[in-house]
Parts: sequence; structure tokens; C-alpha cells
Amino acid sequence: ATNRYEAESAPAVCDGAIASNHVGYSGSGFCDTNNTIGSAVQLTVNTAAAGTATLTIRYANGTTANRSADISVNGAMAQPGFGFEGTGAWTAWASKTLPLQLNAGTNTVRLAATTAGGLGNIDYLDVTTDGGGNSTIM
Ligand code: GCU
Repeated sequence: ATNRYEAESAPAVCDGAIASNHVGYSGSGFCDTNNTIGSAVQLTVNTAAAGTATLTIRYANGTTANRSADISVNGAMAQPGFGFEGTGAWTAWASKTLPLQLNAGTNTVRLAATTAGGLGNIDYLDVTTDGGGNSTIM
């Protein structure tokens, strides 16, 4: 199953502003993080079973700089310096995918900017589980 976690919807945490000034986003907006190292988007994900999930992050980056992020799960680093390359325009949304180990129950997934630009604009995270894992919105 795939569940979508919109970056603008509580209990998601957005270090910056919920914005809607660039068309093409899903839901009611996106998270425009502050332009500084460490700016983060944090999502709470619940799964029925422990295992590997696929995380798909939809974002836009209208600059030519890679706005990479450290991706952590439950406080532990999962993917340091994961790339969020330029997408050509703030209205050009793209997706990046990575595998992620999740615990059964509540998980905290955090993207923290590693460059002074902050994160790209973050639209949503999709979490796909199989093999009995059943990710539900919390
Ligand atoms: C522009 C753009 C924002 C973006 C920002 C940035 O101001 O309109 O959506 O977040 O650049 O550089 O992060």
C-alpha cells in the first residue's frame, strides 16, 4: 500500500512556511523551508509491520544548486546527503525515491538541509510498504 503524507498537513513539521505560490503541488500547498543549513521537514509515519518501505519525495528546486538533505528515521541517519537536484523551475515538480527501514508502529522521517539554501520546496512524501506492512496516516 502507498500512503501520502502532505508536507503542509499536521502533524508534519515544516521549518519555514506553508506556501502555495508555485502551481503543480498536491494537496493545499507545500513546505518552503528557511534558507539555512538544518532546515527540516519532518513526517510521522505509522506502519503495521517492520521492514523496508519505499520513500518517494516530491519536490521542486528552481535553482541550479543541489539542495541535498540528510534523511533520518527515528533519529538515526538513513541517507546522508541525499540529492535534490535542480528541477528547472519552482513549478517543475520531480520525485526522488529511496528505500527506508521502518519499525512497526510510529516512525519519524526527517529531511534536514545540508546546504545554506535549505531544502527544495517539499510537496509530499509517499510511503509504500509491502509484505504486510501497512502504512497509515497519523
Ligand atoms: C524563491 C521561491 C521559493 C523558494 C525560494 C528558495 O523565493 O519563490 O518558493 O523556496 O526561492 O530559494 O528556497
